[in-house]
Parts: sequence; structure tokens; C-alpha cells
Amino acid sequence: MLKAPRGTRDIFGNELFLWSKIENIIREIFYKFNFIEIKTPMFENTELFLRSVGNTSDIIQKELYSFLDKSGRNISLKPEGTAGVIRASIENNLFLNFNKLFYFTSCFRYERPQSGRYREFYQTGAEFFCDNNYLNDLEIILLAHEILSKTGLKNIELKINSLGCKNCRKKYDNELKNFLDKNIFRLCDDCNIRFNKNNLRILDCKNKNCQEIISEAPKILDFLCDDCKSNFDLVIKKINKYKIKYEIDKSLVRGLDYYTQIVFEFIYNDRAICGGGRYDNLIKELGGPDIQGVGFAFGFERLLDAIKSINYLSFENNIDFYIATISNQEFEFAQEIAFNLRNKNFLVDYNLRKKNLKSQIKFANSISAQYLIVLGDQERKTRLVKVKNMATRDEKEMDINDIEFF
Ligand code: HAM
Repeated sequence: MLKAPRGTRDIFGNELFLWSKIENIIREIFYKFNFIEIKTPMFENTELFLRSVGNTSDIIQKELYSFLDKSGRNISLKPEGTAGVIRASIENNLFLNFNKLFYFTSCFRYERPQSGRYREFYQTGAEFFCDNNYLNDLEIILLAHEILSKTGLKNIELKINSLGCKNCRKKYDNELKNFLDKNIFRLCDDCNIRFNKNNLRILDCKNKNCQEIISEAPKILDFLCDDCKSNFDLVIKKINKYKIKYEIDKSLVRGLDYYTQIVFEFIYNDRAICGGGRYDNLIKELGGPDIQGVGFAFGFERLLDAIKSINYLSFENNIDFYIATISNQEFEFAQEIAFNLRNKNFLVDYNLRKKNLKSQIKFANSISAQYLIVLGDQERKTRLVKVKNMATRDEKEMDINDIEFF
């Protein structure tokens, strides 16, 4: 049997129903914060990701889906949303009028699949092109937090750190290099390759042994310059004011190269469902104007799993009325009643197949129909129908124009 490629999934039925419901809730929140939607291509020239996500990151080194197209261009499926949005903003000169953008997009990473980790996954994210100001950082954190609150996820932990600016990094890089010099022989092959090319990436190594050694490494938060420190302290002060539960995590460096200053993740059940941060040099480095930015992205599948686990939103498309038919003589009549009920905004389904009544009622139960209407010869002639409440088993006779809940 042909199967979907490893790390991909088909999404349908109740899961897709909940998926769309959450997408709608999130879209409304983005609009409330005056963010505008953008769609960018599923694939880009590979160079874009090398220059943004970073050549030495795992995402580029191990996980990028890259290929040469028929004309020999080096193309990659997008592993995340930020780079494409910035490329599009530079190319279409969006910065003046559209400085708050949001997206829903598939992303592709060649990771080892497991629960909550896929090779094709879906992200929803926001990018805010704005000055480096703690209030803008806070705006982005408040936006992500609002998405969590409105989907019912209240006890999620925010982990936050600062990676400083170029000046803080210079000081820190020396200290880190001294530490790594002494320990490099104990680190994995990948870390040895990263050594001296991009030492910060070593801090993000997923190898357990490396993580243990790295936990002793100096922390960037202890090397912040006065400006970065004051910015970080102000963000924390305001997070306290808005009563968002957080933990300063000095080890949080994130897996992408473009971050400066604030970085954060929202964690649920030991897993990041959202990650983000500030990127003050990225737009300029990609050939755009000297504009700074901050943003985040949610992993949609992980968000969905979290919502399902707390049962906050119903993920069933409950039918209001199911109309069963005794014979095909009633098909047209069933359609007419369904049409009227749908005009009154009821959710209706009806039988148009040669199925006996018993299996139709079984089907109505399986889709959790709240009311059942059975149509036969007599109902067609009198245009009076019996409406049955499936929960209470009560039944009422109604004119087809006056059908309602009871
Ligand atoms: P990221 O942390 O790489 O950041 O991804 C964001 C979220 O996508 C993660 O927190 C996680 O929930 C989800 N995710 C990542 N990989 C997978 C996977 N293999 N399967 C399922 N879910 C996954 C970014 O992508 C940045 N572009 C976020 C950002 C936007 N920073 C600033 N602006």
C-alpha cells in the first residue's frame, strides 16, 4: 500500500475541524493586534536560509530539504517562516505600510519523527518590524500569550533569556571560547566542526553528553552591556505586571542564528509550543533597510495537542439535525427541509443513499446529531414531521417551517 512519507500526516475529520477552529481564533487575535496576513512560497532559493537561519545550525546542516531544480537552481523547502517573510518584505518594499505580518504555513525539516515532531509541520507566526524597544518585545510576547489564553492554555511556562547585541557577544565569545578550548575534546563531532565557526551553536547541541558539559559554560546573560541589560530588565518588569508566569533560562539560545537580545519559548509538557525573539541585524543582512524586528512562531500540531489534552475546545463538528429517509421518494423533501434549516444557521445533514432506517439512525448517533427527523410517505404529504431529541428521547411534531430546538 502506498503510504504518506515518513514524518508527514493526513489531517481530516474532527482533527481538521478543531484545526480550522483554532486557526480562526488565532486569525481574529492577529487582526485585533492589527497584524496583516502574508503568504510566501513553500520553497525559496537555498541561499536565503543559509544567510538567515545560519550555515552551522542543525536546521541547515542536517534538516534542510534541498534539491537542484531542472535548471540547476539550488532550492530548499522552507524550514521556518521568518526568512521568507523578510525576503518578501524587502522584495515588495512592505516595511512602510505593512510592518506587522502574520502567517500560517507548512514548514519542512528532516528531523527524526516522534510524537509532536514531524518532517512537515505547520507554523503560525508573527513578525513585527519595529524599533528595538522593550515595549515592542512585550507587544509580541503579549500577542503570543493572548493566543495561549484564548485557546484555553493558561498554565504554560514562558522561558526567556537575552542573547545581547554585537558588543555583549564580543566579550562573551572570548569567555565561551576559553571554556570550549578546555572541553572541546569531550564534545561530539558536530560540536568539533562548529568550534570556532559558531560557538553559540555548540550551546544548542542536542547530544546528552554535550548538554551536560555545556551546562557548566559561561552564560551570555551575565555578559550583557548596560543597554541590553536595562532592556531585558524592563521586559521582565512588564511581564510581571501582566502576570505572565515566566522563568529566566540562561541556557536558552534557540536553534537559529539570527537572534539578538530577547529570546523566548512557551513550554507545555516539557516541549516548546512557541519560540521567538528579536532579530536586529537580519533584515539588513538580507539586503533590506536598517530596520529591526521581533517575532515568534507556534508549532500548530503541538498547540493542537495541548488544547486537546485540556479538552477546552470541542473538536467535534456536532450536527444539529439529521434527517433520515424511509425511501428515495423522500430525498427531495429532505433536501428542502435541510435547505430551510441551514438558512436558519442550523448544522444539518440528511440521507440521500439507499440505506435502511436502522443504519441511518446508527449513523446519526455516530456523528452526535442532536435531533433526528425521520421522513416517510405521511410526512411528505402532511409536511408535518416528528423531531426527536436524541439525548432526552423526547419527540415533538412540528410544521417543517417551524422546526426548532426543544
Ligand atoms: P522554532 O523554534 O524553530 O522557531 O520553531 C517554532 C515552533 O515550531 C517550535 O516552538 C515548535 O513548536 C514548532 N516546531 C519546530 N520544529 C518542529 C517539528 N519538526 N515538528 C513539529 N513542530 C515543530 C522558528 O521557526 C522561528 N522562525 C520563530 C520566530 C519567528 N522567531 C522570530 N520570528
